[in-house]
Amino acid sequence: MADPPHRMPMPKRDLLAITDFSRAELETLMALALRMKRGDYLERPLAGKTLAMIFGKTSTRTRVSFEVGACQLGGQPLFLSSREMQLGRGEPIRDTARVLSRYVDGIMIRTYAHTEVEEFARFASVPVINGLTDLLHPCQVLADVLTMREELGGWAGKIVAWVGDGNNMANTWLEAAGQFGFELRLACPEGYEPNHALFDRAAARTRVTITELPEEAVAGAHVVTTDVWTSMGHEEQAEVRRQAFAGYGVDEKLMALADPAAIFLHCLPAHRGEEVTDAVLEGPQSRVWAEAANRLHIQKALMATLMGSPTR
Ligand code: CP
Ligand code: NVA
Repeated sequence: MADPPHRMPMPKRDLLAITDFSRAELETLMALALRMKRGDYLERPLAGKTLAMIFGKTSTRTRVSFEVGACQLGGQPLFLSSREMQLGRGEPIRDTARVLSRYVDGIMIRTYAHTEVEEFARFASVPVINGLTDLLHPCQVLADVLTMREELGGWAGKIVAWVGDGNNMANTWLEAAGQFGFELRLACPEGYEPNHALFDRAAARTRVTITELPEEAVAGAHVVTTDVWTSMGHEEQAEVRRQAFAGYGVDEKLMALADPAAIFLHCLPAHRGEEVTDAVLEGPQSRVWAEAANRLHIQKALMATLMGSPTR
């Protein structure tokens, strides 16, 4: 029996960064996600399989969308808080990865240092999916570019404006811009720029610019997007950051500078009155709920691709 075309060949593949997949593989992934979203995918490629989900940070969307998605594909999700694992008491990552690989068929991890996920993937013999690190959040930006494709018809010639912190989301948008070839304009205050190496890598593949002026980034943009000013793990900097990011909130005045058909995206959770106003988040250009919904579809496509057994 032939494998369905979306399955990847052995050896095992991981998704730690968007650049782990080629542009063609990402397009195949999105086509599968859209087929699942339409409801014409009735296969259960995870039947008899378990996805371990290790969380070192809190989560609403990532946990629920992976858990529900694994169930819908016939699999069994297993929620693990790293604090309640021996990992939280110092058991090495490499030992945990080798042991879990003997019980489960795929592992999703949310943690702090990106190197921890890389080490996990190196020692795991089953696929590892990055559910957010301090450096990258690939599952979220895959859902975001899928939303762009649905709402704007594609990426060619499109301009995305990132306003705010040069954080894990901004870094991942840089990777996405390089892979899909759209223009990315970042507006970040001094000292809060994204990762320099990721910026340079993206700039070698597409048009990427950085400014301290949100108005300059947003002028004529087709997507305006932002994220919290204080990411998980930086809570003690919240007050300093609130001051540093004053003037970087996305409001209706800023949105008015974008393309008239521009959409607003935010990975959520949002802090109304800080990085975005209630009027923009709840307004006609906001696509944040469609964006959140797409987490489920793209991650189901990812699990089927990385972990799935042929079912027909
Ligand atoms: N956007 C996102 O990853 O949300 P959670 O932190 O709720 O998983
Ligand atoms: N930048 C945010 C994203 C949350 C989904 C954080 O890391 O907390």
